[in-house]
Amino acid sequence: MNEKVRVLISEEEVEKRICKMGKEISKYYQGESVHLVSVLKGGVFFTCELAKRLTVPVSIDFMSVSSYGSGTKSSGVVKVIKDLDEHIEGRHVLVVEDIVDSGRTLSYLLENLKSRKPKSLRLCTLLDKPERRVTDVHVDYTGFEIPDEFVVGYGLDYKQQYRNLPYVGVVELEIED
Ligand code: IMP
Ligand code: MG
Repeated sequence: MNEKVRVLISEEEVEKRICKMGKEISKYYQGESVHLVSVLKGGVFFTCELAKRLTVPVSIDFMSVSSYGSGTKSSGVVKVIKDLDEHIEGRHVLVVEDIVDSGRTLSYLLENLKSRKPKSLRLCTLLDKPERRVTDVHVDYTGFEIPDEFVVGYGLDYKQQYRNLPYVGVVELEIED
């Protein structure tokens, strides 16, 4: 079987939306600094693009939590693979994620970060699949709501491939004769 990627959200659309989100987020944190917690690996591409659009002072740290295996199904198990390098107590923390799907990863992560007493804690995601939610997660900033399809690109992978695509696409499996 071969795979083909169909464009769902073009590079131009993604860039335009991130630009808008950058303005909105900068306005919210006006007069303060924001500490971005980027969720590895998928959140990295979005984090970089968003960070470039923020006009308030920004610092960045990374955390890696996993709730997925190497395929497209959730294992339901969340584990910390890499913790933050810096403390977040008393800081304005904005979690930057590629996608909120079942919500399991984020609800675990937000509880974990909340216990470290940040001054504020908000969540920003490039993509949201609301239909798939199994836990209640409050998303403060959403780039795009998408249907229940497995997407790649802009940091998102299928078996560790396609993260580098500059657009968001859907993987389609082609059955050969
Ligand atoms: P959740 O815990 O089910 O919300 O999903 C957490 C993680 O699963 C996301 O941060 C992604 O890394 C991965 N994921 C969920 N949906 C997709 C998708 O459509 N494509 C690629 N990765 C996905
Ligand atoms: Mg992710």
